[in-house]
Amino acid sequence: MDIIFATSNSHKLNEARGIIGDSFSLVTPLELGITDDIPEEEETLEGNALSKAQYLWNRCGRGCFADDTGLEVEALGGAPGVRSARYASDECDSRRNMQKLIKELNGIQNRKARFRTVVALIIDGKVTLFEGELNGSITETPSGSGGFGYDPIFLPDGYTKTLAELTSAEKNIISHRGIAMRKLSDFLKSML
Ligand code: IMP
Repeated sequence: MDIIFATSNSHKLNEARGIIGDSFSLVTPLELGITDDIPEEEETLEGNALSKAQYLWNRCGRGCFADDTGLEVEALGGAPGVRSARYASDECDSRRNMQKLIKELNGIQNRKARFRTVVALIIDGKVTLFEGELNGSITETPSGSGGFGYDPIFLPDGYTKTLAELTSAEKNIISHRGIAMRKLSDFLKSML
């Protein structure tokens, strides 16, 4: 069975293919000739994941899913959250996003944060949401060169290395997206 994954990110696609395995074949909108800019304008991760999946369902009427992720910092009331990609400016600039977050937390003791991923799946018009979380804290300086986004300043609870210092295999085991995708995968497999 084919399922559409609303992404243009090849890294995410490979990760999802690795988790979901051979039972389902993941295809991207682009592979189906859909080049539309899928809207992502909601105020919550759930809203964005759902609106992207709904857009594809309305367009194709085929099983599909979409994800959205945010970094939620406790002392900042959950910011940058749904605005994580464009926290410092309208461009997705990870270096500036990290700089801004470090500055906002300057002098603040509570550096607790979590990554949260929401996946919205639509099969036969029925919506199911899956969530994955990774708890940790924000470091004072970036460290490591792996991963992407806020990885160099995110220290997972119980670890002495940032996400950017872990291998991608180590990160996938504990990551918010890995957890949400494995829940999605279990659900899909239970339908077979
Ligand atoms: P997206 O919804 O997966 O596109 O994620 C939105 C933004 O959250 C990204 O542009 C990154 O800034 C941040 N982000 C998402 N996942 C991760 C991650 O695994 N590590 C670090 N930053 C992430």
